[in-house]
Amino acid sequence: MALLELQGLTKRYGGIVAVDNVTMSVEPGEVRAVIGPNGAGKTSLFHLITGVVKPTMGEIVFDGQRVTAMPAFSRCQLGMSRTFQITALFPEMSARENTRLAAQARDKQRWRPLGGGAVFAEASRRGDAALERLGLSHVAERQAGLLSHGDQRLLEVAMALAQQPRLLLMDEPTQGLSVEETAQAVEVLGGLFAGGGLTVLLVEHDMEVVFRLASKMTVLHRGSVIADGDPATVKADPVVQDAYLGGYT
Ligand SMILES: Nc1ncnc2c1ncn2[C@@H]1O[C@H](COP(=O)(O)OP(=O)(O)OP(=O)(O)O)[C@@H](O)[C@H]1O
Ligand SMILES: [Mg+2]
Repeated sequence: MALLELQGLTKRYGGIVAVDNVTMSVEPGEVRAVIGPNGAGKTSLFHLITGVVKPTMGEIVFDGQRVTAMPAFSRCQLGMSRTFQITALFPEMSARENTRLAAQARDKQRWRPLGGGAVFAEASRRGDAALERLGLSHVAERQAGLLSHGDQRLLEVAMALAQQPRLLLMDEPTQGLSVEETAQAVEVLGGLFAGGGLTVLLVEHDMEVVFRLASKMTVLHRGSVIADGDPATVKADPVVQDAYLGGYT
């Protein structure tokens, strides 16, 4: 069974159709990239999946459960965790405090019976483990806002990971990074995904990044899905070439 299923998902903003009748699914263990040019509807699709905005039409099914009308925090507690296109961390806190708080955010209901101290210890442990998986242990005590941009983006992934998500959603993790920082991020994320066990939905602009990281991809164009499949097949699809890749080799 698919972990995530979108059925005829549509989002209109006035006259603009940001997401247009999108049907797609994410299977357990898949690293799926959603690609498409500026304004294709990628971020809007993420907002719909995570519950930041409500669809105009269509359904979202997560792990067999209809979540279309469920608020964002409930979806997080079911196991959806995301990073944002724009950096979203607590800049004055340390990297460790950021991952611990992220872990606690999902814990709130699950661990209440254990009481405060146990909650804190468990969240710290999961936060530290996430930092380690992203290669950030050496900056754990540093103030998050003073980390390099590349490390800040990885810290955001660590924060999402600290929530032990069943579905990890990432909106352009390499946006705004230098060539060197992008290469490093791809290296770290590639290692993370290669370890297996994660199901990932990734929005990405950079084709090189997509081909390095994704096992499946969905191409959006003006809100609609124009191709879906493994990266090599999608890349060769003339419709995709025409609409988006335009000369990319
Ligand atoms: N809150 C909103 N109100 C009105 N229009 C919106 C809103 N959010 C998005 N849109 C419009 O919906 C379309 C899709 O935008 P979206 O941000 O989802 O694209 P994107 O694929 O993430 O683009 P980018 O690559 O630039 O991040 C665009 O035309 C955008 O202007
Ligand atoms: Mg976007």
